[in-house]
Amino acid sequence: MSRVGFIGTGHIAAPMARALARDGHEVSVSDRNAQIAAELAAQTPRITVLGNQAVVDRSDILFLCLRPDVAPDVLPGLEFRAGQQIVSVMAGVSRADLLGVCAPADAISQTIPIGFMEHGGCPLAAYPDGAVLEALFGQTNTVIPVASEAALNQHFAACKLIPGMLDMMATASGWLSERTGDARKAELFVTRLLGGYLAALGDVEAGRLTTERDALATPGTISRMMIEGLEGGDMRQVLTDTLNRINTRLEGMA
Ligand SMILES: NC(=O)c1ccc[n+]([C@@H]2O[C@H](COP(=O)([O-])OP(=O)(O)OC[C@H]3O[C@@H](n4cnc5c(N)ncnc54)[C@H](OP(=O)(O)O)[C@@H]3O)[C@@H](O)[C@H]2O)c1
Repeated sequence: MSRVGFIGTGHIAAPMARALARDGHEVSVSDRNAQIAAELAAQTPRITVLGNQAVVDRSDILFLCLRPDVAPDVLPGLEFRAGQQIVSVMAGVSRADLLGVCAPADAISQTIPIGFMEHGGCPLAAYPDGAVLEALFGQTNTVIPVASEAALNQHFAACKLIPGMLDMMATASGWLSERTGDARKAELFVTRLLGGYLAALGDVEAGRLTTERDALATPGTISRMMIEGLEGGDMRQVLTDTLNRINTRLEGMA
């Protein structure tokens, strides 16, 4: 078991801290946000709340979970040590900047957790390698090492499929409930429909998504009507353009 610390105890640190404590690790979290830190500590004696430097001092593995605009004010004031493993989850904070502020620590990984990772099933893109993430989270989540920092940013951009998909699902659920008059059942139906379908897909390889789509959307079917409707509205181009714009913004931050 490891001593794992978190600088920045917010939305994304909390599920990771809970997962690690549940798995038996000794976890310390910084006292910002105070309320989230107190709630975590109240849940298990394996989570301790400390000041930023005390978290650094106590940790063999240290997760940096600050907002990118806050990180430059906080990290240079901390003393890291050689041999310490650092994991940054911060979108748009470059590897060069991390190496600068964390010196002499130079074992730095970058990843993109999503909150549901505490329940397992989350893909964790990792750069430059995923060894520490595999050791901590690999039993229930899928660590996916990527080839470059640019590729990590591209995976960050792809994560925004989640709000995009939620928007599409909310639109479909609204369409359904306007006709059935039952908003709860409409949302339950749409959510279970997509969740159950994706869970049943299991392992995927390149090309699986279009194979599955084409198996459903054969000529003359109402599934095909859906694909043709989206194509007619240029939805693929809109999605591609939006991913490009998000990626450009992330690269501009780094
Ligand atoms: N949310 C996600 O799903 C997600 C996913 C992947 C990556 N990320 C990345 O994770 C990072 C954090 O995102 P988040 O959504 O968790 O943001 P967040 O909820 O705002 O968490 C940031 C935390 O940093 C704390 N903080 C502010 N100043 C501090 C200081 N001087 N010392 C220590 N802590 C301080 C904040 O405390 P106060 O509330 O007291 O200010 C807050 O608890 C971002 O860089 C983001 O790109 C987030």
